[in-house]
Amino acid sequence: MKRVAIVGLGFMGKMHYDIYSERKDVEVYAIAEQDEKKRKGDWSSIAGNIEGNKAAAADIKRIKMVPDYRELLGDKNIDWVDICIPTFMHKKAASDFLKAGYNVLVEKPLCPTVKDAKDLLSLKNKSKGIFMVAQCIRFWPGWALAAEAVRKKTYGKVIHASFKRVSPPVMGWNKWFRDPKKSGGAIMDLHIHDVDFIRWVFGRPKKIMACGRKEMAGITHIYATYLYKNFNVCAEGGWDLAPTYPFNMYFCIVCEKATLEYDFSKTPIFTVYMNDGQKIVPKIKTTTGWHEEIDYFISLIKGGGKQTFVKDQEIIDTLDIIFKEKRSMSTGKPVTF
Ligand SMILES: NC(=O)c1ccc[n+]([C@@H]2O[C@H](COP(=O)([O-])OP(=O)(O)OC[C@H]3O[C@@H](n4cnc5c(N)ncnc54)[C@H](O)[C@@H]3O)[C@@H](O)[C@H]2O)c1
Repeated sequence: MKRVAIVGLGFMGKMHYDIYSERKDVEVYAIAEQDEKKRKGDWSSIAGNIEGNKAAAADIKRIKMVPDYRELLGDKNIDWVDICIPTFMHKKAASDFLKAGYNVLVEKPLCPTVKDAKDLLSLKNKSKGIFMVAQCIRFWPGWALAAEAVRKKTYGKVIHASFKRVSPPVMGWNKWFRDPKKSGGAIMDLHIHDVDFIRWVFGRPKKIMACGRKEMAGITHIYATYLYKNFNVCAEGGWDLAPTYPFNMYFCIVCEKATLEYDFSKTPIFTVYMNDGQKIVPKIKTTTGWHEEIDYFISLIKGGGKQTFVKDQEIIDTLDIIFKEKRSMSTGKPVTF
């Protein structure tokens, strides 16, 4: 049995708690959460832009509940720490656990600035713990398959591609998502999923052009175009839609022999439209990218292997692309990589 400590029991911490609870090989050993109500088992306030498991804690009496994660430092029962507190707190918490020798899974975005991310990754490289940034979209059923198809040129070369990720406004604990210094705004928090995927699958673009909507809460909507040598990719992301608008994520990848479409709001969710007239609905897992990324991380914990799937340079590039998008948005000019 492996034991995890979750730090922060908000939307993501509860999602991870549910995933761990479904497994027979993992025990949620400890939770660090500043909210006393949550520590006492009232989880009714937890909400996010994707429906999670509404069930409250099954049996929290056996869980070590602490208000401050520092109370966990030195606890030898913990196999890894899963950091799900707001983004601006990641660096300090992850550093404290890495320095104490723990394995660490930390939510995306790693940090709201490139400098903080570089500092943390450099500390990680001097630490003994296994470390991974939870870039879940790489693991998401359908998305992972499309990435493989692009890489293997299963349907020929890519001609162009588009991505879209839209959500109603999100608030979070103390409305931290609405403070761009804490969350980085929608461009950093939400759109980062597509930026990471695009960087991972297509590599670094040569040029970036972006425009969008900026408010007190930072950049709440972005339209970005990435120029590559032989094709272009675009991505729209924003969390300023009507509160009743359902979260959606979407891609359309046009290749020489087929068009691959994933639409979270559609059934079937993933279809390959072949140029020869066939329509293929690939078999994909019914789990989520969160399940798959956690499964991968646990396999590393069990096998003692090094994490190589989410590379340092990709994390830095992803953040850098976001800052280049911001620059393009504010100057109205393209930015070269
Ligand atoms: N991978 C994804 O798809 C995805 C989705 C949503 C959020 N996230 C990321 O997960 C992280 C958390 O987001 P969220 O939506 O769960 O936020 P949230 O506001 O719902 O939850 C944050 C939780 O942390 C707690 N907290 C705050 N300070 C704390 C402290 N010092 N010690 C212990 N607990 C503390 C709060 O009480 C709250 O319960 C963010 O980095 C966010 O970007 C990732």
